[in-house]
Amino acid sequence: MGSSSQSPNLDDTTTIPTTVKAYLTPSYWDERFTKEEQYEWFKDYSRFRHLIQPHLTPHSSLLELGCGNSQMCEELHRDGAINITCIDLSTVAVERMQKRLLSQGLKG
Ligand SMILES: C[S@@+](CC[C@H](N)C(=O)[O-])C[C@H]1O[C@@H](n2cnc3c(N)ncnc32)[C@H](O)[C@@H]1O
Repeated sequence: MGSSSQSPNLDDTTTIPTTVKAYLTPSYWDERFTKEEQYEWFKDYSRFRHLIQPHLTPHSSLLELGCGNSQMCEELHRDGAINITCIDLSTVAVERMQKRLLSQGLKG
């Protein structure tokens, strides 16, 4: 694979890159999030909610690093977190997340 500014080599039929290095390139994520609506890389929030929920207060300030297209921020919001910041290196992920949250009446 070439430098990180080049488009990673995506398999046409899946979103799995042909090399692990592709995960380091914003263009891989942009391309992936253009095609993919929603995906949870870890477990969905319900699987570890019991670990987080007891620590949430209306004053909690949460930072979700590399939010992608996960639904975790909506789940955290449903559990009472108000101040959640989602960031991602993919502009596609950020734009889509903003749009999704706005459509639910949340500030994107
Ligand atoms: C494996 S996915 C996880 C997405 C989501 N958190 C989940 O659990 O489903 C990794 C995410 O981190 C983002 N990412 C990778 N490197 C990053 C960086 N340096 N700063 C911000 N986001 C980054 C990618 O764009 C991608 O959305």
